[in-house]
Amino acid sequence: AISLDLNFGCPAKLVNRHDGGASLLRQPDRVYQAVKAVAEALDGAIPVTAKIRLGFANRRLAVACAQATEAGGAARLVVHGRTRDEGYRPPAHWEWIGKVRHHLSIPVVANGDIWTLEDYWKARTLSGCCDVMLGRSALADPWLAPRIRYWQQTGERLAETTWEMRASVLQEYAALQRQHLPDRVVVSLVKQWLAQMRQGNAEADQHFQRLKRLTDLDALLGSLTPSASSLAAYEPA
Ligand SMILES: Cc1cc2nc3c(=O)[nH]c(=O)nc-3n(C[C@H](O)[C@H](O)[C@H](O)COP(=O)(O)O)c2cc1C
Repeated sequence: AISLDLNFGCPAKLVNRHDGGASLLRQPDRVYQAVKAVAEALDGAIPVTAKIRLGFANRRLAVACAQATEAGGAARLVVHGRTRDEGYRPPAHWEWIGKVRHHLSIPVVANGDIWTLEDYWKARTLSGCCDVMLGRSALADPWLAPRIRYWQQTGERLAETTWEMRASVLQEYAALQRQHLPDRVVVSLVKQWLAQMRQGNAEADQHFQRLKRLTDLDALLGSLTPSASSLAAYEPA
């Protein structure tokens, strides 16, 4: 491993019920103790990093929790700009990530609701963070990260991600998963990823509608890139 990341952002009920993930954000001292214990155990072999949300039920302890990660020895902090109770509901509060960042000297990475180049720019501007982390959008559009990088480097926009590009990623993913998992599980995984790709993309949604009832993996993979004529049947009237 090149680093060890502690996730204090997990909102899952099961995890929180056992006092893990975002549950610890109610007590910054415990965040501190956890990061410190891991940093001491690693003894500098690899960096320890952390990820937090802005709080559990509210943002009152956001800065204190962030400071606790730094004091405990975290080398970098990702801040997901929502509280645990906000779940994945938009908006992510990028300006709050900026407030937190002002109190820290370690690098802070902004996370939450960055779906487009424009979102990236807004998140960067409001948070003041140089780096961002993509969650669901990296699944929805696997080319968003390269698009951001290209824009950073050249100021130019890469072309939009096409369905053929998405389909090729799904093919590659299925081929890898197929080496270890039964076909029916791979069918379900491919559909789950396809469902993520539908977010904000009408073309992927159209393909999802076309493919969602297929249960045979070879049929599904064979149909990912359909002929133009078969696709026409799914065009909105
Ligand atoms: C299905 C799913 C699984 C996730 N698993 C993890 C995880 O294991 N560790 C982690 O730090 N964050 C995890 N996250 C949270 C994301 O890293 C990210 O903080 C969150 O999705 C908000 O960013 P987004 O709006 O770009 O999706 C997960 C999110 C989702 C939707």
